[in-house]
Amino acid sequence: MNLRQPCLKVIEHLPPIPGATGRLLATLARRDLEFKDLVKLAEGDAVLAGRVLALANSGAYGRRRNVDSIQYAIAFIGVSAIRRNAVSWAMGSVFRHFHPAESAAWSTTRFMAHSEHTATLCDMFCDRFPVREAEAAYMAGLTHDIGKLVMAMANRDAPGEVLDFMRLTGTPMVEAERELLGIGHPEISGMAAERWHLPDAICDAVYRHHNPEPDDKSAAPLSLVVAHADRVVNSIGFGIVPETPAKFEMCWPGRESAARAALDSFRLTLMPANGTSTQQGDLMMELAT
Ligand SMILES: [Fe+2]
Ligand SMILES: [Fe+2]
Repeated sequence: MNLRQPCLKVIEHLPPIPGATGRLLATLARRDLEFKDLVKLAEGDAVLAGRVLALANSGAYGRRRNVDSIQYAIAFIGVSAIRRNAVSWAMGSVFRHFHPAESAAWSTTRFMAHSEHTATLCDMFCDRFPVREAEAAYMAGLTHDIGKLVMAMANRDAPGEVLDFMRLTGTPMVEAERELLGIGHPEISGMAAERWHLPDAICDAVYRHHNPEPDDKSAAPLSLVVAHADRVVNSIGFGIVPETPAKFEMCWPGRESAARAALDSFRLTLMPANGTSTQQGDLMMELAT
C-alpha cells in the first residue's frame, strides 16, 4: 500500500489550532518576547485569560490568596510554564476531535503519553545546557511523532503492518514505513507542522528527529535534543508501541553530567504523588546513574 496521498489528504483536514492559542504559541516562540506582549494577548481573549488565571490559582502553585490580575498571574507562573501549558491547551483541543480508531498496534492514550513525556524531557535538557531554538523544544517534542497519528488516520491497519514487518525482518521503524508505505512518519510530522504554520525550527526538528544534525560545542541542535528525549522515553517503556522497555545507553559526549541532571529532574515527574517509585522511575534511575 502507498500511504503518501492518503496522508496528504489527512493533513489537509487537520483541525486548526484555535485562533487565540495559535497566536499565543507564535508569540511564545519569538526570541524577542516581551512580558507586555504576553499580557496584552491574554487580556484580549476571554478564554485564554480564564486559563491563565485558573493556572495561577491551581493547587500546583499553592497560593493562599486568589490571583485576579492577568499581569500578576503571568509574572507569577513564569513564561516557560505558560509556554508548556499553551502547547497542551492547543494540542488538547486538536486531539479531542482528531484521533484514529484504537487497535492492537495503536493507542491514542499511549501516543499522548509518549508525546508529553518527550516534550517534558526536551524542555528539561534545555534547562541544563544550551540548545539552539530552545523556546521551540516543548512543541517539537510534543509534535515529533504526529506523522504516526496521521498514518493511522489514513489507514487504520498501517501501524500493525509496520510493526509486523519490523518484527519479521528486523528493519528499523522509519525504513520499514518507507518500504511498506512509501513514506516515513518524520516527513509526515514535518508536513503537519508546516500545515499548522509552526515555526521553522519545529518543522525542521520533527522532520529530522530520526536523523538529527550532529552536535556542536556551542549549542545542541533541537533535532538532536528531540532524538535523545525520544530514545530515553522509549527505553523506559513509554513508546507508542507497547514493547518491553529496552536498555539504552545515554551517550552524549561533552554533555553527560548536564544530561544526567536533566534525567534526574525528569525521573521526579514520573513519581506518583505518594513518593513511591514507578517501574519507569526505577528504569530512569538506572539510566541516570
Ligand atoms: Fe519518531
Ligand atoms: Fe517518538
